[in-house]
Amino acid sequence: AADIASDITEVLVTEEQIHAKLDEIAAHVAEDYRDKDLLLVGVLKGAVMVMADFSRALPAVVPMDWMAVSSYGAGTRSSGVVQIRKDLDADLTGRHVLIVEDIIDSGLTLSWLLENFASRGAASVEVFALLRKPDAAKVEVPCRYIGFDIPNEFVIGYGLDYAEKYRNLRDVAILAPHVYA
Ligand code: PRP
Ligand code: MN
Ligand code: MG
Repeated sequence: AADIASDITEVLVTEEQIHAKLDEIAAHVAEDYRDKDLLLVGVLKGAVMVMADFSRALPAVVPMDWMAVSSYGAGTRSSGVVQIRKDLDADLTGRHVLIVEDIIDSGLTLSWLLENFASRGAASVEVFALLRKPDAAKVEVPCRYIGFDIPNEFVIGYGLDYAEKYRNLRDVAILAPHVYA
Protein backbone atom coordinates (compact mmCIF):
# COMPACT_ATOMS: atom_id res chain seq x y z
CA ALA A 1 0.00 0.00 0.00
CA ALA A 2 1.15 3.53 -0.78
CA ASP A 3 2.47 6.00 1.76
CA ILE A 4 -0.15 8.67 2.43
CA ALA A 5 2.07 11.49 3.70
CA SER A 6 2.34 13.07 0.22
CA ASP A 7 -1.45 12.90 -0.24
CA ILE A 8 -2.30 15.18 2.68
CA THR A 9 -1.52 18.86 3.26
CA GLU A 10 -2.32 19.12 6.96
CA VAL A 11 -3.55 17.06 9.88
CA LEU A 12 -6.67 18.79 11.21
CA VAL A 13 -7.66 16.57 14.13
CA THR A 14 -5.34 14.02 15.68
CA GLU A 15 -6.27 10.57 16.92
CA GLU A 16 -5.61 11.74 20.50
CA GLN A 17 -7.92 14.74 20.11
CA ILE A 18 -10.63 12.49 18.68
CA HIS A 19 -10.43 10.01 21.53
CA ALA A 20 -10.49 12.74 24.19
CA LYS A 21 -13.57 14.26 22.54
CA LEU A 22 -15.32 10.90 22.26
CA ASP A 23 -14.81 10.29 25.99
CA GLU A 24 -16.30 13.71 26.76
CA ILE A 25 -19.35 13.22 24.53
CA ALA A 26 -19.88 9.64 25.72
CA ALA A 27 -20.15 10.94 29.29
CA HIS A 28 -22.83 13.43 28.21
CA VAL A 29 -24.74 10.82 26.24
CA ALA A 30 -24.60 8.33 29.11
CA GLU A 31 -26.06 10.96 31.43
CA ASP A 32 -28.71 12.16 28.94
CA TYR A 33 -29.91 8.60 28.20
CA ARG A 34 -29.52 7.19 31.71
CA ASP A 35 -33.16 6.12 31.94
CA LYS A 36 -33.82 5.58 28.24
CA ASP A 37 -33.68 2.67 25.84
CA LEU A 38 -30.93 3.99 23.56
CA LEU A 39 -30.23 2.65 20.07
CA LEU A 40 -27.12 3.82 18.22
CA VAL A 41 -27.50 3.96 14.44
CA GLY A 42 -24.27 4.25 12.47
CA VAL A 43 -24.25 5.59 8.95
CA LEU A 44 -22.08 3.36 6.80
CA LYS A 45 -19.44 3.55 5.75
CA GLY A 46 -17.96 6.78 7.07
CA ALA A 47 -19.16 6.34 10.65
CA VAL A 48 -17.50 2.97 11.22
CA MET A 49 -14.52 4.34 13.14
CA VAL A 50 -16.56 6.83 15.18
CA MET A 51 -19.09 4.16 16.10
CA ALA A 52 -16.40 1.67 17.08
CA ASP A 53 -14.63 4.10 19.40
CA PHE A 54 -17.65 6.06 20.64
CA SER A 55 -19.69 2.98 21.53
CA ARG A 56 -16.77 1.59 23.52
CA ALA A 57 -16.38 4.92 25.34
CA LEU A 58 -19.93 4.51 26.68
CA PRO A 59 -20.08 2.98 30.14
CA ALA A 60 -23.31 1.06 29.47
CA VAL A 61 -24.45 -1.84 27.31
CA VAL A 62 -25.92 -0.32 24.16
CA PRO A 63 -27.29 -1.91 20.99
CA MET A 64 -26.22 -0.64 17.58
CA ASP A 65 -27.63 -0.87 14.11
CA TRP A 66 -26.39 0.34 10.74
CA MET A 67 -27.78 2.02 7.71
CA ALA A 68 -25.77 2.39 4.52
CA VAL A 69 -26.45 5.48 2.46
CA SER A 70 -24.29 7.23 -0.07
CA SER A 71 -24.48 10.56 -1.82
CA TYR A 72 -20.89 11.29 -2.80
CA GLY A 73 -19.99 8.36 -5.00
CA ALA A 74 -16.46 8.81 -6.30
CA GLY A 75 -16.52 12.62 -6.35
CA THR A 76 -15.60 15.30 -3.83
CA ARG A 77 -19.04 16.93 -3.81
CA SER A 78 -22.40 15.68 -2.64
CA SER A 79 -24.70 14.73 -5.46
CA GLY A 80 -27.65 15.61 -3.25
CA VAL A 81 -29.22 12.29 -4.22
CA VAL A 82 -29.13 9.93 -1.27
CA GLN A 83 -29.35 6.23 -1.96
CA ILE A 84 -30.13 3.53 0.62
CA ARG A 85 -27.66 0.69 0.12
CA LYS A 86 -28.60 -1.13 3.30
CA ASP A 87 -31.61 -0.39 5.45
CA LEU A 88 -31.83 -0.78 9.24
CA ASP A 89 -32.51 -4.19 10.74
CA ALA A 90 -34.13 -2.69 13.85
CA ASP A 91 -37.70 -1.54 14.26
CA LEU A 92 -37.47 2.04 15.57
CA THR A 93 -40.92 2.07 17.19
CA GLY A 94 -40.62 3.57 20.67
CA ARG A 95 -36.82 3.65 20.55
CA HIS A 96 -34.58 6.54 21.49
CA VAL A 97 -32.32 6.75 18.45
CA LEU A 98 -28.94 8.44 18.33
CA ILE A 99 -27.60 8.66 14.78
CA VAL A 100 -23.80 8.45 14.73
CA GLU A 101 -22.16 10.22 11.78
CA ASP A 102 -18.60 11.08 10.84
CA ILE A 103 -19.34 14.46 9.26
CA ILE A 104 -21.99 17.02 8.41
CA ASP A 105 -20.83 18.68 5.21
CA SER A 106 -23.70 20.10 3.12
CA GLY A 107 -26.11 18.51 5.62
CA LEU A 108 -28.05 16.80 2.82
CA THR A 109 -27.41 13.25 4.00
CA LEU A 110 -28.56 13.84 7.57
CA SER A 111 -31.52 16.00 6.70
CA TRP A 112 -32.66 13.26 4.34
CA LEU A 113 -32.08 10.61 7.02
CA LEU A 114 -33.95 12.56 9.69
CA GLU A 115 -36.91 12.89 7.36
CA ASN A 116 -36.71 9.20 6.53
CA PHE A 117 -36.64 8.28 10.25
CA ALA A 118 -39.52 10.61 11.14
CA SER A 119 -42.08 8.15 9.82
CA ARG A 120 -40.68 5.12 11.67
CA GLY A 121 -42.23 5.82 15.05
CA ALA A 122 -39.12 6.46 17.13
CA ALA A 123 -39.63 8.01 20.56
CA SER A 124 -36.80 10.44 19.77
CA VAL A 125 -34.12 10.90 17.12
CA GLU A 126 -30.95 12.86 17.83
CA VAL A 127 -27.65 13.28 15.98
CA PHE A 128 -24.02 12.96 17.00
CA ALA A 129 -21.56 14.04 14.32
CA LEU A 130 -17.83 13.97 14.99
CA LEU A 131 -17.15 16.73 12.45
CA ARG A 132 -19.13 19.60 10.99
CA LYS A 133 -18.28 22.16 8.29
CA PRO A 134 -20.33 25.27 9.17
CA ASP A 135 -19.28 27.05 5.96
CA ALA A 136 -20.51 24.22 3.72
CA ALA A 137 -24.05 23.92 5.07
CA LYS A 138 -26.79 23.89 2.46
CA VAL A 139 -29.40 22.83 4.98
CA GLU A 140 -29.41 23.18 8.74
CA VAL A 141 -29.30 19.88 10.58
CA PRO A 142 -30.41 19.82 14.21
CA CYS A 143 -27.42 18.20 15.86
CA ARG A 144 -27.36 17.45 19.60
CA TYR A 145 -23.70 16.42 19.91
CA ILE A 146 -20.80 17.78 17.83
CA GLY A 147 -17.13 16.87 18.05
CA PHE A 148 -15.29 19.52 16.01
CA ASP A 149 -16.21 22.35 13.67
CA ILE A 150 -13.71 22.36 10.81
CA PRO A 151 -12.98 24.56 7.78
CA ASN A 152 -14.55 23.92 4.40
CA GLU A 153 -11.80 21.67 3.03
CA PHE A 154 -12.02 18.15 1.65
CA VAL A 155 -11.02 15.97 4.58
CA ILE A 156 -10.19 12.30 4.79
CA GLY A 157 -9.26 9.76 7.45
CA TYR A 158 -10.88 8.21 10.54
CA GLY A 159 -13.61 6.76 8.32
CA LEU A 160 -13.79 9.55 5.78
CA ASP A 161 -12.82 8.60 2.26
CA TYR A 162 -11.93 9.95 -1.11
CA ALA A 163 -13.01 7.36 -3.70
CA GLU A 164 -13.07 4.69 -0.93
CA LYS A 165 -9.46 5.36 0.09
CA TYR A 166 -7.92 6.87 3.24
CA ARG A 167 -10.62 5.64 5.65
CA ASN A 168 -7.95 3.82 7.67
CA LEU A 169 -5.89 6.93 8.36
CA ARG A 170 -5.89 7.41 12.15
CA ASP A 171 -6.16 11.24 12.06
CA VAL A 172 -8.48 13.54 10.13
CA ALA A 173 -6.47 15.38 7.47
CA ILE A 174 -6.91 17.68 4.48
CA LEU A 175 -6.54 15.87 1.17
CA ALA A 176 -3.91 17.43 -1.08
CA PRO A 177 -5.59 18.99 -4.15
CA HIS A 178 -3.22 17.19 -6.55
CA VAL A 179 -4.91 13.91 -5.57
CA TYR A 180 -8.29 14.91 -7.01
CA ALA A 181 -7.31 17.63 -9.49
C1 PRP B 1 -20.16 11.23 3.51
C2 PRP B 1 -20.05 11.33 5.02
C3 PRP B 1 -21.44 11.71 5.44
C4 PRP B 1 -21.91 12.59 4.29
C5 PRP B 1 -21.81 14.03 4.67
O1 PRP B 1 -20.74 9.98 3.16
O2 PRP B 1 -19.69 10.06 5.56
O3 PRP B 1 -22.28 10.57 5.54
O4 PRP B 1 -21.02 12.30 3.19
O5 PRP B 1 -22.03 14.87 3.56
P1 PRP B 1 -23.29 15.82 3.39
O6 PRP B 1 -23.54 16.52 4.69
O7 PRP B 1 -22.85 16.79 2.31
O8 PRP B 1 -24.44 14.99 2.95
P2 PRP B 1 -20.64 9.40 1.68
O9 PRP B 1 -21.88 9.74 0.93
O10 PRP B 1 -19.34 9.81 1.06
O11 PRP B 1 -20.66 7.82 1.91
P3 PRP B 1 -19.61 7.01 2.82
O12 PRP B 1 -19.98 7.27 4.25
O13 PRP B 1 -19.82 5.59 2.47
O14 PRP B 1 -18.24 7.51 2.48
MN1 MN C 1 -21.21 8.73 5.06
MG1 MG D 1 -17.68 9.03 1.25
